[in-house]
Amino acid sequence: MKNQKFETNAIHVGEKPNIKEGGSGDVISPIHLSTTFARQDVDIPTAGYEYSRSLNPTRKALEAKLAALENAKYALAFSSGMAAETSLLLALLQTGNHVIATDDLYGGTQRLFLKVFQPNYNINFSLVNTGNSENIANSLQENTKLLWLESPTNPLLKISDIANIARTVKSKGVITVVDNTFMSPYFQNPLNLGADIVLHSTSKYINGHSDSIGGAIMTNNKDIYEKIQFIQNSVGAIMSPFDSYMVLRGIKTLAARMKVHGENAIQIANFLNQHPKVKKVIYPGLTSHPQHEIAKKQMKGFGGMISIELDGGINEAKKFVSSLNYFALAESLGGVESLIELPAPMTHASVPEKTREKLGITDSLVRISVGIENQDDLINDLKQALDKI
Ligand SMILES: Cc1ncc(COP(=O)(O)O)c(C=O)c1O
Repeated sequence: MKNQKFETNAIHVGEKPNIKEGGSGDVISPIHLSTTFARQDVDIPTAGYEYSRSLNPTRKALEAKLAALENAKYALAFSSGMAAETSLLLALLQTGNHVIATDDLYGGTQRLFLKVFQPNYNINFSLVNTGNSENIANSLQENTKLLWLESPTNPLLKISDIANIARTVKSKGVITVVDNTFMSPYFQNPLNLGADIVLHSTSKYINGHSDSIGGAIMTNNKDIYEKIQFIQNSVGAIMSPFDSYMVLRGIKTLAARMKVHGENAIQIANFLNQHPKVKKVIYPGLTSHPQHEIAKKQMKGFGGMISIELDGGINEAKKFVSSLNYFALAESLGGVESLIELPAPMTHASVPEKTREKLGITDSLVRISVGIENQDDLINDLKQALDKI
């Protein structure tokens, strides 16, 4: 139906039960494990399916849903967020190209840029604070091909003005990519703001249950889609049928989950903001966040990620995170269960110490992925752990 809303798309797009004669009427998309597909005629593959790396019915159902949720014409599902990133870079860059990217990127993305593509393929990366649009204008070069934004960033939750930046670089022929993992399509739609490509680690909010690794790319640009699809098929970076099924299942509750993640996070941020053992609370929903106004303009909510700086050093931080009952001490984020971690020795350990210092990733920085448990239980748990330091 026309003008179908997000919640309805998340449940129905790509999964229409086949109730025609001979159809089984499955309400839920079956997991198509077949690696190859029989055809009636040499020239015409059945419904376009030949070999599962190139096209698979379960993955196709998921891709239709992923496209709908980011208001995109096209979507591709990958074996991981990193596989999506690698395929994108291989598809759109050539030796000698230059990329501008947010300085406070997910550590794995930085590693891929600076330790794989830069030395091996002679692609140059300028990592700048994209929260300040002037830094982008100053970094543009003749050979700049891509602008890579994470907004909010990981773990410092810095916000970039996506619409303003995308508009500025478009006139220079630069493609804007936004890693939208932290917001999920429920809270932010970068394509609507003028970005060319949206990328997700579906391992996080989109799947939402910490039980499947995957990635996704959405775009409205046919040429970009075809180039990335060609690489995805060539290198085999596809999401498996089983993971596609898991994500199809998880995504149905994305809207309901994100609402609770957001409601819990603002209450927890307010609680932490008043606690004497917490030096600083970083959450885009707080008016104290330096880019709160931009966040309000481009996001429909502020998400479930909070970073805090404790009054103390690494020992206090370690004591705090290991004293919690409901917040598992684990990397990753975006699951229904609350997680907590220390970026410096954990997710961002691959970022050089000097760069971490420059960015503000201190030893007492704690990143919290707020789950959808009861809000009071989570606050009481944080309270008792803070009392221990
Ligand atoms: C913002 C962001 N982008 C990309 C990735 C990489 O995704 P994956 O772990 O699914 O390969 C992560 C993983 O933590 C992430 O947090």
